[in-house]
Amino acid sequence: MMVLVGCNAPVQEKDISQKADSVLRLLSLEEKIGQLNQLRGRPTTPTNTKDARYVIEDEIRAGRVGTFLNVHPLEEKMAFQKIAVEGSPHGIPLIFAMDILHGFRTTFPVPLGEAASWDVPGIERSARISAIEGAAVGFMWTMAPMVDISFDARWGRVMEGAGEDPYLASLIAKARVKGFQGDDLALPNTILACAKHFAGYGQVLAGRDYNQTVISQRFLHDYVFPPFKAAHEAGVGTLMSAFTDYDGIPANASHYLLTEVLREQWGFQGPIISDFNSLEELVNWGVVSSVKDAARMGFNAGTDIDMMGLVYIDHLADLVREGKVKEATIDTAAKRVLIAKFKLGLFDDPYRYFTPGLDEDTWLTPAHRQHAREIARASMVLLKNEEDLLPLSTGDYGTIAVIGPTDADAINLMGTWSAWGKPGNVVGIVKGLREASGAQVLFAEGCNQQGTADPALMRKALETAGKADLVVLTLGEGWRNSGENTSLAKITLPQVQIELAQQVQKMGKPVVCVLFNGRPMAFPWLNENMPTILEAWLPGTEAGNALADVLFGKYNPSGKLPMTFPRHAGQVPITYLEKRTGRPYKQGKNYTKYLDMPNEPAYAFGYGLSYTTFEYAGIRLDQDKIGFTDTLKASVTIKNTGDYLGREVVQLYASDLVASVSRPMKQLIGFKRIELQPGGEEEVDFKVTSQDLRYWNKDMIYQADPGEFKLFIGTSSAEGKEVVFTLE
Ligand code: BGC
Repeated sequence: MMVLVGCNAPVQEKDISQKADSVLRLLSLEEKIGQLNQLRGRPTTPTNTKDARYVIEDEIRAGRVGTFLNVHPLEEKMAFQKIAVEGSPHGIPLIFAMDILHGFRTTFPVPLGEAASWDVPGIERSARISAIEGAAVGFMWTMAPMVDISFDARWGRVMEGAGEDPYLASLIAKARVKGFQGDDLALPNTILACAKHFAGYGQVLAGRDYNQTVISQRFLHDYVFPPFKAAHEAGVGTLMSAFTDYDGIPANASHYLLTEVLREQWGFQGPIISDFNSLEELVNWGVVSSVKDAARMGFNAGTDIDMMGLVYIDHLADLVREGKVKEATIDTAAKRVLIAKFKLGLFDDPYRYFTPGLDEDTWLTPAHRQHAREIARASMVLLKNEEDLLPLSTGDYGTIAVIGPTDADAINLMGTWSAWGKPGNVVGIVKGLREASGAQVLFAEGCNQQGTADPALMRKALETAGKADLVVLTLGEGWRNSGENTSLAKITLPQVQIELAQQVQKMGKPVVCVLFNGRPMAFPWLNENMPTILEAWLPGTEAGNALADVLFGKYNPSGKLPMTFPRHAGQVPITYLEKRTGRPYKQGKNYTKYLDMPNEPAYAFGYGLSYTTFEYAGIRLDQDKIGFTDTLKASVTIKNTGDYLGREVVQLYASDLVASVSRPMKQLIGFKRIELQPGGEEEVDFKVTSQDLRYWNKDMIYQADPGEFKLFIGTSSAEGKEVVFTLE
């Protein structure tokens, strides 16, 4: 029997809390624990002995499951919901979750790529569309956004985040939360978001996934927490703990992270979920000796929901009976899950997300595809255009050869975590270029994506290139090489791809090198030898059209790197956020440096060229001293000095010259995207207050210090104008 608590008007927090209490009172201890148990749908192949342990329908009927991950198709969700609502003791509806990160059927660039657009409203729209398309087949909760900051390109999961900078990543985290959740979670096309992975996962030692971390409390506060805090301030409904530890304690068992920070300091109210099976893995961490103790430790630390670990359902009731876990804490956790269900409107109508056929009206609509095209082209970053080969003119090249393994399989254009995106719906590179140019477009892969040499493929590629007037060389790492569990010690391109590039280069034809990858890579040979390089990331459904728009100048590239591209893996972790040190770079012999390599990366954070050029005049301040409650206006005039209409991301960085702890030499505190006609100029004004200059001081208080600050305004973290002012 379903509990009747209907309501039509938008429900207030207090009403919801009372309603959740009224449901909670009816539940037995086991049923309350059931709300904390997340199971997954039927795996296509049994991969986990846990799946064989239970019959899903029986678990639902017994009220032993509260939420599901990955139940497909819609009919199965409907059937499960029917059992929950009509056949379980108190008819509590289920929530169905999935990892919807960068689109659903229509796919957008991988999140790191999208971040390169710096187009925050555009990124919000991607999340909105992802929610609409996912909700159309009954998903109500996404395990996104991933907001982990990382300075380490070896860690393949950088692809899922927004890069290295906490300010940019915070704006993007907010936008994604707003996009997924919309204004009213009870609408059937808005879904719960889940900010993950709290906290510090992006700092895995040596860039190796699932490894330990070595981070300080200050590091957490300076870099790791801000995007989570931003997601929380944007109202994110749920949070996920990390697979990693903080200071020796695994995150899902960290009372400090989950309870002290999230609950007590920030006031986060939603459920916190463990990562997949990670509670059981506390045994592997060596912090408990049994799975039962893992349940106790994780739960008492603050993990509300157990994702596919079965440790709560197996042990929490006994732990309550033994006095090791308080029933009141179980009530609080179960109530959080019930509140989420109320917010989603499921107690009003548990089937509200289930409208058969809705997918046909919502998936891959022209508007969704148009957005996919716009955000994909806005995310592309022009790394080099030394000979002004780009933009290409249609008509200049009768035959174009697309050479390289990427286009051989459209999945390489989407990446992992691409939800229900289908390679068959992707506009490939050849197709996109053919349509845009009217030229004859030939294709040869040259080598396979795995990087194994095949002389026949190479021969064919060179033959094909020989017939062309222009070669578009498509290189990169393929879809499988970034995402979870894809750490690399070598972040270079496979040797066979370099050989391909060398052979093609020798032919003396114009070559545009386009890179498709989910992480920053190191490609020294290309940097030295290829005059034209475009970073395209893994662009999603509209890949070919977006690329053609950029190559043929329909869109003038405006993307800026959200993460530093090193010269070599030996430089990582690397970030523009370097702090001052006692022996700073370039001050004599004993400065911080490598013997065998410059300190500078190949391409700095915030870097990205345009087909036009922008000239920055010096910064003008409306005053050179401000008080703590004043606002400083910093202005700079930017002129489009080239021949094309262009978009520029004007970046504002600040530096605290003397603080109670060593501070970064530069830190992003603002940016504006502007558009200028050739010859056009615009004054860009930034407002700076003491709020923007706060930091975690030596006593871990977040405040600004009086003193001198430097402001930088420029086209990247490495190039701009600077000025000093005083806060007093
Ligand atoms: C990942 C999470 C993801 C979960 C469910 C885990 O392996 O770390 O990010 O949400 O699986 O798919």
